[in-house]
Amino acid sequence: SGTTDGIILQDYIRNIPDFPKPGIQFKDITPLLAHPAALRAAVERLAAPFADRKVDAIAAAEARGFLFAAPMALMLGVGLVPIRKPGKLPYTTVSAEYALEYGTDRLEMHSDALSPGHRILIVDDVLATGGTMKACCDLVRDAGAEVVACAFLLELGFLNGRAKLAPTEVFSVLSY
Ligand code: PRP
Repeated sequence: SGTTDGIILQDYIRNIPDFPKPGIQFKDITPLLAHPAALRAAVERLAAPFADRKVDAIAAAEARGFLFAAPMALMLGVGLVPIRKPGKLPYTTVSAEYALEYGTDRLEMHSDALSPGHRILIVDDVLATGGTMKACCDLVRDAGAEVVACAFLLELGFLNGRAKLAPTEVFSVLSY
């Protein structure tokens, strides 16, 4: 849109060395969240490619995925399905496991959240190893729904998460 055309989103992402561990450079999106035009530009650029893709709902994993999923859902005129860490959702859940550096973790979704055949756009702030998004894709497909694409604000290309998600379509606004 006219007010966000000139926004350079990279300018609002801060590098934090050695967080959460030595040797890791963390991409901190809080400056972008704090800046109204940058936040609007980020949400618009995430949602625009999917305006004509017949998306039925957006799904996203907590916590940072939610920050973009809700405004994208409003922009696309669809609802939002939360995918959460274990024990947070009150109704019957289905779950998917994913690998961490040491061990595994799990994500949950309500068992009645999606209808078979529905076309789902899954959103997150960052694509790193792809483990989180792969688990989200598994949950959506196990429910009989279709993954239209996975959309990210930023992709850490050197971690090759995209390969873990193939052949699912991956869209990222920014790549590092
Ligand atoms: C971060 C980020 C993605 C995920 C990406 O979430 O928001 O969801 O990691 O990493 P991956 O591609 O290697 O799976 P985190 O687990 O830190 O949770 P948070 O959003 O609750 O902070």
